[in-house]
Amino acid sequence: MAINLDNDDFILGVIGAGAMGRGIVQVAAAGGLRVKLFDVNQAQSQDAVEFVGKMLGRAAEKGQMTEADASAASGRIEVVEATQGFADCQIVIEAATENPDIKNKIYEDLEGIMAEDAIIATNTSSLSITTLASPLKKPERFVGMHFFNPVPLMRLVEVIDGVRTAAEVGDTLMELGRRMTREPVRCQDAPGFLVNQVGRGYNIEAAHINSEQVADIPDLDRILSEGAGFRMGPFTLLDLTGLDVTHPATELIYRQFYEEPRFRPNVMLRARMEAGMLGRKTGHGFYDYSSGKQEFPAEAGYPAYDGLPIWISKAEDEGHKALTEIVSKIGGNLETGESPSSDALILVTPIGDDVTTTAVDQGLDPARTLGVDTLVGLATRRTLMTNPATKAEFRDAAHGLLTGDGVKASVIRDCPGFVCQRIISTICNIGCQIAQLGTAGPEDIDKAVVLGLNYPNGPLTFGDQLGPKNVLRVLEACHRLYGDPRYRPSPWLRRRAELGLSLFDKEI
Ligand SMILES: NC(=O)c1ccc[n+]([C@@H]2O[C@H](COP(=O)([O-])OP(=O)(O)OC[C@H]3O[C@@H](n4cnc5c(N)ncnc54)[C@H](O)[C@@H]3O)[C@@H](O)[C@H]2O)c1
Repeated sequence: MAINLDNDDFILGVIGAGAMGRGIVQVAAAGGLRVKLFDVNQAQSQDAVEFVGKMLGRAAEKGQMTEADASAASGRIEVVEATQGFADCQIVIEAATENPDIKNKIYEDLEGIMAEDAIIATNTSSLSITTLASPLKKPERFVGMHFFNPVPLMRLVEVIDGVRTAAEVGDTLMELGRRMTREPVRCQDAPGFLVNQVGRGYNIEAAHINSEQVADIPDLDRILSEGAGFRMGPFTLLDLTGLDVTHPATELIYRQFYEEPRFRPNVMLRARMEAGMLGRKTGHGFYDYSSGKQEFPAEAGYPAYDGLPIWISKAEDEGHKALTEIVSKIGGNLETGESPSSDALILVTPIGDDVTTTAVDQGLDPARTLGVDTLVGLATRRTLMTNPATKAEFRDAAHGLLTGDGVKASVIRDCPGFVCQRIISTICNIGCQIAQLGTAGPEDIDKAVVLGLNYPNGPLTFGDQLGPKNVLRVLEACHRLYGDPRYRPSPWLRRRAELGLSLFDKEI
């Protein structure tokens, strides 16, 4: 019998009254559902009910709901003292401690108590839905319902089908998610589900770039937040979440994917975790927090541009146009010849290739050559890239020139894909592979990432904006230079790039 969420006798059960359980109870009650809550620690359940009452009261004070609705929502919450209390619940969401033994014992109890067609859902963040379902008598009624912390503020919920989950069970939970005023997305069981898989790309790639001495930590944070529009730089974000949370999750996803190189962790992150430099919670991470707030180092001043002639390579038509426009506006002394004069500063605008490869391929004097990332971030923060032969006077001239209109610029060392091209392409590639494996559809992948990670775009929108062909070039250049299968492009990306299609285009 199908579960009708509109029936007056529909009751949702929630197991675990910790950080997540209480948030789930709050959004369910606020969404008009009756909820029963159980925790082995009864004091925890009472505390949760008081907490939720306070939160609902605060929402009423802020005008987000009426006083009457807040008190009605509180009235819909009931604490039960044993799992037997769930006998009349048609759906139970388990949000107990992340331990498979604890969770399996709970499911065994529930199977003996709940109706044959009742649904058991888990809020696990890292365990396989299929594995958790396997000891159940009826694994087809078991499903993942992954909320994000803090639940009332994070609208996303991932509804995850295990291998044996019945389709209508997932459909019911999608509807339940909407009734709880959430934005549900549907995905198939996979390590890290959707959001936690994509989230690996951002910070691991940034750590790889930093490990290669390309740019320091504050500059990487500046480039990605100011240049590419991420709300937080990767290292500020790692400090906020804590390396003890992020790094083990990365290692787990890497292992669960049988050592897929795209998820390979970075040794620098493990070393810092073991050194206890966990982030805000320990007062010291990538930044110092001993004063209670992040000490973000001030940026050094910029040298002035002294009128040196500038020659911009025409090898990349769009990059040449974009950079020429800016240099002209700044009043740079532009050369227009087919090749640079003997003392000109040489600027190249590679997509994917590092400056060394670009200078050698184009027969340019590397001592005077720098790269500028024109694909991402000319408007708000610029990235300039040297090569091992670049002379300091040309680096300084380029730095002075490209900050001449008040836009800031960071100078990094040679690296395929600069910073933004490489990190956005990595995120896009992971998103494309999720689509290729059928874990979720393109729209749901993007929706999940924007809502769950607060990125300015989802992975496929990022790719369409940069151009799938450009993303393919960046990944191929990284793959060529490092010979590391970590950068191999997903077939989803390659085919759409080669056919000139959008990354949202599905095959029949
Ligand atoms: N905290 C997060 O950011 C987050 C995000 C998404 C998902 N999750 C997942 O949600 C679940 C809960 O996480 P949390 O952060 O709320 O943990 P928590 O430690 O805050 O709360 C867990 C609660 O479960 C209770 N519990 C333990 N064994 C129980 C049992 N047998 N029966 C009933 N209650 C039991 C504990 O007493 C505790 O109150 C975990 O599976 C976790 O992976 C957590």
